[in-house]
Amino acid sequence: MNGPQGIGAPTALLPAALAIIVPTFNEAANVRLLITLVDRALAGIAWELVFVDDNSPDGTASAVREIARADPRVRILHRFGRRGLSSACVEGILATAAPIVAIMDGDLQHDESALRPMFDRIGKGDVDLVVGSRHVAGGSDADWNEKRRRMSRFATRLALRLTRVPISDPMSGFLMIRREAFMRSLPRLSNVGFKILLDILASAPVPLRVAEIPYVFRDRQHGESKLDTLVLWEYAQLLLDKAFGQVVPVRFVSFAMVGGLGVLVHFAVLTAAFKGFGLPFALAQAVATAVAISSNFLLNNIFTYHDQRLRGWGLLRGWISFNLVCAFGAAANVGVADWLFTHRSWWALSALAGIMVSVVWNYVMSAFFTWRR
Ligand code: GDD
Ligand code: MN
Repeated sequence: MNGPQGIGAPTALLPAALAIIVPTFNEAANVRLLITLVDRALAGIAWELVFVDDNSPDGTASAVREIARADPRVRILHRFGRRGLSSACVEGILATAAPIVAIMDGDLQHDESALRPMFDRIGKGDVDLVVGSRHVAGGSDADWNEKRRRMSRFATRLALRLTRVPISDPMSGFLMIRREAFMRSLPRLSNVGFKILLDILASAPVPLRVAEIPYVFRDRQHGESKLDTLVLWEYAQLLLDKAFGQVVPVRFVSFAMVGGLGVLVHFAVLTAAFKGFGLPFALAQAVATAVAISSNFLLNNIFTYHDQRLRGWGLLRGWISFNLVCAFGAAANVGVADWLFTHRSWWALSALAGIMVSVVWNYVMSAFFTWRR
């Protein structure tokens, strides 16, 4: 049987020794070439390519499916209704039986010719993980400007506190790992954001044995990077989760921070409406409440639920349900505070308890009704 590329086809019927997981979002223009290049680079190795696509609007999943119809080494895992680079990689790894798995970008920026030296290196058996590195001799970066370089160095320093092993490129998204090592990290993975390597290293119960193989980071030919808008926030979320995730879920921290900001919004609008426009206090208070709830809703939709962001009609439906959730939350707030106050008469503590109850209520209920999966 012949693959569409016509080379390396005999390995198609062997169980895969190496699975390459490729997360994709809008990479339809790149997949065919990527498969050809991987096939050439890995001639003689029984490989399998697992594309994990988050329902890309450009039809990446159907492009892969079409190739997969003629080549059983190519597979598609098509996710629907959520986004996330790290979680896509994790699910891809869990969807194969190969003893060794690699993660590689789908935009041709990672050099597929590094896969063979990585595979040879991990085959020696003395390391768990091989990182494709831009920062060891022989590797290099795209042309970054000085500001981006400085930011990357800072992020790298933070990262090294988590990895517990000294590596030159902890921010890399190009790696190869033994399945059994990955499985040891699995229960503690944060699964947020896009730093899968960092997550795997930081989640390992015993520090992993790591080697690095150089590669040259290529320029992107088609499409554009998806990691430019909220990357810093996603990175912060990963660091937060690694630091406090055992105590409180990072989503809750984010939700509470947005809530704190909502209090400021409330006071700003109240001051403007009551003092500035001279509205009656009750009306000004109502306006401030409505604005604060809406701004909390929008901010949570962007930051707290970035991976399941509501859009279009879903946004309207979500806003309505969030208002309902918050109305009950406010009632609970007043109820609890009033009950405590009548029984204990500590007014400030009663108010604080009321606020805490309503934050937890709003968090749990909005997770069920507003951003339900
Ligand atoms: N399934 C899925 N879901 N895939 C995604 C998502 C997503 O939400 N977001 C991005 N991807 C895919 C892209 O289609 C691409 O194949 C790969 O993940 C990397 O995304 P890019 O948007 O090309 O990222 P980048 O080039 O800016 O960053 C890369 O290089 C960094 C080092 O400079 C990534 O490999 C980073 O992990 C790496 O740190
Ligand atoms: Mn890229």
